[in-house]
Amino acid sequence: MTVGGPGPGKPLYSYRPPAREAGRRVLVVGATGRLGVAIAEGLVNRGDDVVLTARDPNKLEQMAASLERGRGRVPFVCADLTHRDAVERIVEGLRAAVPPKDGRGSVDDIVLACGPFPRTPFEDLRREDLERTLTVHAVAPLLLVHALAGDLAKARGAVVGLGDAGTTRPFEHHVAYLTAKGAVRTGLRALAVELAPDVRVNIVELGIVADPEADADPLRQHRLATRSQLGRFGTAEEVVHVVLSLLDATWATGEIWGLGR
Ligand SMILES: NC(=O)c1ccc[n+]([C@@H]2O[C@H](COP(=O)([O-])OP(=O)(O)OC[C@H]3O[C@@H](n4cnc5c(N)ncnc54)[C@H](OP(=O)(O)O)[C@@H]3O)[C@@H](O)[C@H]2O)c1
Repeated sequence: MTVGGPGPGKPLYSYRPPAREAGRRVLVVGATGRLGVAIAEGLVNRGDDVVLTARDPNKLEQMAASLERGRGRVPFVCADLTHRDAVERIVEGLRAAVPPKDGRGSVDDIVLACGPFPRTPFEDLRREDLERTLTVHAVAPLLLVHALAGDLAKARGAVVGLGDAGTTRPFEHHVAYLTAKGAVRTGLRALAVELAPDVRVNIVELGIVADPEADADPLRQHRLATRSQLGRFGTAEEVVHVVLSLLDATWATGEIWGLGR
């Protein structure tokens, strides 16, 4: 076992607990987002293999190229999670890119970092907003974990989902988003029960790393930042650190790790 945090000349995330070997295959869902990109980089930098999925083929192509580390092309699957066949599409793409063999599945672990952050002012809230947001944040990700549960179990794998602190402390104009994040939070905890002890399922519940409206509005930024006890937004690196830690946390399942709340 190598113990040691980052230090001069030492790579970040060099610590590896005894039960987790290097070179795991991790599916990153929402891989082209601001957090998805950082998570995929963190995984590759510590020697894991990633498979990326999101909607935009150009962003995926670029990212796959940027993550090559002399270990060959990084596979990716384009899928829009609002589409009813998205889960089948991702599983098929995954099987084609990384065929199961020697008793190992196509994927060992999954990180769920997908979905939009739609502003839905209360007076304009529509059924479509709720259905669409629930589908992308909760229905499709839960079905994807369900579809890949056998692969994960073979690897004693883990799922980490990115949750939102707003589910316990809601904010305005986001009923659809917060409802969807609440659904996936509960769904993932229920999956932790269904899949134990072979697969662990945990959640990182985030405060704010980036708020699309705050960039142009310093007052809003200040107001939002002071909601967190640490008085600031988080960074993608701080999220990556906790996601990797939870992937490695072999004695944790059904847990919610709050961050910057
Ligand atoms: N950033 C924060 O401050 C914050 C705070 C709390 C929680 N979170 C949670 O953290 C996660 C990542 O956040 P982020 O800021 O990185 O988000 P982001 O930058 O908006 O990225 C979202 C990702 O989801 C994908 N996506 C969106 N709609 C999709 C669809 N219909 N089908 C398939 N993929 C879709 C996007 O792919 P395309 O590029 O192809 O559209 C992108 O890869 C989210 O679950 C969010 O709720 C973030």
